[in-house]
Amino acid sequence: MPENKIVLAFSGGLDTSVAVSWLKEKYGAEIVTLTIDLGMVDLEAIRQRALRVGAAKALTVDAKEALVKDFLFPALRAGAVYEEQYPLATALGRPLIARCLAEAAQAEGAFAVAHGCTGKGNDQVRLEVSMAALAPDIKVIAPIRDWGMSRQDEIDYAKERDLPISASDSRFSVDENLWGRSVEAGELEDPWLEPPEEAYVWTKPLAATPDEPTYLVVHFQQGAPTAIDGEEMAGVDLIVHLNGLAGGHGIGRVDHVENRLVGIKSREIYETPAAIVLHAAHKALEALTLSKEQARTKARVAQEYADMVYNGLWFTAHRQDLDAYVRSTQRYVTGDVRVRLHKATCTVVGRTATNSLYQYDLATYGREDTFDQAAAEGFISIYGLPVRTQSQAQPE
Ligand code: ARG
Repeated sequence: MPENKIVLAFSGGLDTSVAVSWLKEKYGAEIVTLTIDLGMVDLEAIRQRALRVGAAKALTVDAKEALVKDFLFPALRAGAVYEEQYPLATALGRPLIARCLAEAAQAEGAFAVAHGCTGKGNDQVRLEVSMAALAPDIKVIAPIRDWGMSRQDEIDYAKERDLPISASDSRFSVDENLWGRSVEAGELEDPWLEPPEEAYVWTKPLAATPDEPTYLVVHFQQGAPTAIDGEEMAGVDLIVHLNGLAGGHGIGRVDHVENRLVGIKSREIYETPAAIVLHAAHKALEALTLSKEQARTKARVAQEYADMVYNGLWFTAHRQDLDAYVRSTQRYVTGDVRVRLHKATCTVVGRTATNSLYQYDLATYGREDTFDQAAAEGFISIYGLPVRTQSQAQPE
């Protein structure tokens, strides 16, 4: 019977574990959980847990490749970084989660999907607006937003029903995927306090980083990274590799007071080593391969693109149009970038491109110079003409 199935996006945490029984009781529905691996998940353990807390069926999807190909690399090519700090890991994962939910709901004949977002964040907006674009006929239920339970209420609710949950959850609210780890709540809510070391998991504290730098060469093909130090790597592997390497040098910590879509400012900690390295390297390659006008326009598009992603507007014509522009700019963004990882800093130290606009014979001050210096005189005379004219006609 289609009217009695709900597909719940299930992470295995306290919220979504309690949500299984709550949805069952409130809607008299059969609950199918869906757990999506975007990089950091033990699918089988969470599947078992879903069945233990009362799911009728527990689905799992490995969506890592889709995350990289359809979301992370497009955002990298676009240079999308929210408010110049946040490479958008969580924000890029949400439309894919919505896509998986919509597909599962359709396959299962469910009348609704459910998610564990609160009513204060961006994630509810991203999931629900994406669902509206992909599967407008499927209802979306947000139990955590609806039920008004505190964390303690949830624990009591679980105890009353004998749900096997561990109340020893971390004191922070954490979301993670390949592109980064987002940490909020607890003492991070005081923006004056330095984040405690326990907030960080992927990145080493400065004191524990190696004294020797690591150099590496990232190869890009039309704006997407395809190899490291000459070794071809699939996107997922490349990102995992860089997260480990750069995180080991303490690279990737971001402490951001950001403007949420729902109007509040929030203090977030991010760990995003691979994204920091790849954005820096990609930008360096664009400096060689894009004209000045392309680079300037693209920087504005990057900001718009980041806002679209952050604000949950992935599945829109406008985002597709921006992508078409970005794609076109990436035709010649092919080449190598050499970076140095050392003491929490990623520095670009070299770059080379197949179709570089940097021409040695034009730039050099040496003998090989082919720049016509004599022509500069005429250029300056014409270029300065309106300046001379105005300063004579309007001396003040
Ligand atoms: N503020 C970030 C964003 O809106 C991260 C949200 C993280 N979510 C979480 N449940 N901790 O993209």
